[in-house]
Amino acid sequence: MKAKRTSILLDLHPALTNITGEVLQGLTAQPKKLPPKLFYDDRGSQLFESICDLPEYYLTRTEIGILTSSAQEIAALLGPEVLLIEYGSGNSRKIRILLDALKHQAVGYVPIDISRESLADAASLILADYPKLKVAAICADYTQSVALPALPFTYRKPVVFFPGSTIGNFQPHEALAFLKSVAALLQKDGLLLIGVDLKKDARVLNAAYNDAQGVTAEFNLNLLRRLNREFQADFIVDNFRHLAFYNPHRNCIEMHLQSQFAQTVCIGGKKITFSPWETIHTEDSFKYSVDEFTQLASQAGMVPERIWTDPNEWFAVALFQVQ
Ligand code: AVI
Repeated sequence: MKAKRTSILLDLHPALTNITGEVLQGLTAQPKKLPPKLFYDDRGSQLFESICDLPEYYLTRTEIGILTSSAQEIAALLGPEVLLIEYGSGNSRKIRILLDALKHQAVGYVPIDISRESLADAASLILADYPKLKVAAICADYTQSVALPALPFTYRKPVVFFPGSTIGNFQPHEALAFLKSVAALLQKDGLLLIGVDLKKDARVLNAAYNDAQGVTAEFNLNLLRRLNREFQADFIVDNFRHLAFYNPHRNCIEMHLQSQFAQTVCIGGKKITFSPWETIHTEDSFKYSVDEFTQLASQAGMVPERIWTDPNEWFAVALFQVQ
């Protein structure tokens, strides 16, 4: 009988931060805010998958289009014996485009994710479909710096893949710190392949975060349902409204939950008062020009090898090399 292949699951036991403290601190701050990582409970992750398929949410299909049409060129630039390291391995649609183009050029795949379950699922699905590939899953919080452990196979070049414009959900100073930590992990000549959402007509941006079916609204409001369930809160979800708009002064989409009138909510035994139209700031999604992003990467010690965009120049997939 053939032995079943398993991925090496290296568990760095990402520290559980004091999330309750963070929630209470955010709701008592002025203005009120909540960390966007709270979006991704099971329901939130499903809603995000649905967002990716919405007609207004151009990001996912545009990035997939760029990856598909540039896959052969990307494979040629990455060269032989590549180790692909993916940050946040949620949905494997995009890594498969690369693996299919790289064929035997990819020797190993290292997905890094904070969620043990989605990491194990992603790793075993890839293992099943790419029998020659070595898979070493790492459970870690990639927003903190991660060192690559010694792997029981050799490779020539490490390549970090960070799709989806998730970099846009970092504040610019956090994005720089993150790029520096990627450069430290990759070391000289290592490569970063990253998806970045670009600045564009505010009408396109506003539509992408205010879809007609209300899925993004539900994704945002789900955060209150989560607080009720996991943090003993008593939010009446219908008393809040999804608010998302492009702020041209900050170059980002701001998402908020807006209280429809004066109200008081209890959470963890604490009373939180809302004045009419007061909001909880739940997410920023920064948009860059190609030049702005290239400058940010250069501050982290990276130079562009090649940048691909779609015909509308709405989204960029950029390949950077660490100097
Ligand atoms: C995950 N991230 C890149 C998404 C974005 O577009 O900023 C999250 C999202 N928020 C609302 N819609 C999608």
